[in-house]
Amino acid sequence: MIPLPEPYRVKMIEPIRLLAAGERRARLAEAGYNTFLLRSEDVYIDLLTDSGTNAMSDAQWSALMRGDEAYAGSRSFEALQAAVRDVYGFPYIVPTHQGRGAEHLLSRSWIRPGQLVPGNMYFTTTRLHQELAGGTFQDVICEEAYEPSREAPFKGNVDLGKLSALVERHGAEKIAYVAVGAPVNMAGGQPVSLGNLEQVWRFCQARGIRVVLDGARAVENAYFIQQREPGCSKMSVARILREMCLRADACLVSAKKDLYVNIGGFLATRDRGLYEKAMNLCVVYEGLHTYGGLAGRDLEAMAVGAREMVQDDWIAHRVGQVRALGERLRELGVPIVKPIGGHGVFLDARAFLPHLSQDELPAQSLAAWLYEECGVRAMERGVVSSGRGPDGRHRYPKLELVRLTLPRRVYSDAQLAFVAEGVGRLFKRRAELPGLRFVSEPELLRFFQSRFEPLPVAARA
Ligand code: F0G
Repeated sequence: MIPLPEPYRVKMIEPIRLLAAGERRARLAEAGYNTFLLRSEDVYIDLLTDSGTNAMSDAQWSALMRGDEAYAGSRSFEALQAAVRDVYGFPYIVPTHQGRGAEHLLSRSWIRPGQLVPGNMYFTTTRLHQELAGGTFQDVICEEAYEPSREAPFKGNVDLGKLSALVERHGAEKIAYVAVGAPVNMAGGQPVSLGNLEQVWRFCQARGIRVVLDGARAVENAYFIQQREPGCSKMSVARILREMCLRADACLVSAKKDLYVNIGGFLATRDRGLYEKAMNLCVVYEGLHTYGGLAGRDLEAMAVGAREMVQDDWIAHRVGQVRALGERLRELGVPIVKPIGGHGVFLDARAFLPHLSQDELPAQSLAAWLYEECGVRAMERGVVSSGRGPDGRHRYPKLELVRLTLPRRVYSDAQLAFVAEGVGRLFKRRAELPGLRFVSEPELLRFFQSRFEPLPVAARA
């Protein structure tokens, strides 16, 4: 199947190069077998993340020139505020330097120590901010999310049974808010249905519990709703996004995803009390509430990106490109998470490297050997990302995944065919790929900075 042609043409290019095999091996060892520690210069095709790696449009580049760099009351803030009001429908917005800045403000505003935060699977920075504020994350995602090979349209859905059992056990006052990621990054970019959002919203409204949407890639979720949910095919993605937001009290946005920018984020809400609290904390941690750690030009680029992102043909192309890569891999027999997500293709590292135990770090190893094979950089989403619990022990997640994430408007189909070929070659010689072990590990969000070494072959079972 030929992927959807790009709804744009290329105006500027950035050269990349593929290092020779021996050099890649040396660079990987220098980086401690952690793809986060590779130099970008040494990477050929960079599928580490879709976060901040987007190509901006000519309209966004032009908007940069309009940036109003005033410390207070910037015109560019007003442009962003107007775009967020139109596109997401929330009246109040607090800009932040990126998504985790918004997570920080929200967690400190709405979590009291000892409270629980139910959510549909954890996200690394989100959970850490909840914990730093004294909260405890509780997973209430549906069971299908843990089965990589199971085809289901909305594997990101909240399990209402799990949520209501939790609320029953602890009481509504113990719940800080329910956090709904739409789509769910760590489950493979799996979406949440509008019906499920509605159920969660009603359940929470009836009990006085607040709902927070993690809208980092909400447009991709809206697109899946349009394509898969009965009764939604005639609605525009723009309309679906607003419908999603109507079922939340607040929304956290890392603009580095959907909004086609390289930096930025915000907290948007209809709750005046949250707005005032977050706006005040913003001054302490991010910068004045009309720039939130960003330059005026960044706010302008976000304002333009927010309007571009909801155009149906743009988002159809974006998700279509991810699907095309996934289909190529599927044809090669490579085990991937199904259905294919909106921001990347997730390799199932347990099925790819069945000879490795979770302590041999299958996903971390696969990401390392993929770089060595073809210069492609991917990201581990397994036990290394999951970190350690309060008892100091590894938190073993059910999923061991390697994410091939597609930056928006950056790579061509030929480049993605090269990626698929490289993964396919690695898959053919999977039996000989060794595991890794930790050499060093920082205290927080260890996946970013840990170092590893290959396990000696003798140590393998
Ligand atoms: N929520 C989700 C679902 C995310 O995927 C991210 C970031 C954040 C919040 C935090 O936003 O990075 O702007 O501070 N995800 C990136 C990724 C890092 O590669 O998936 P941030």
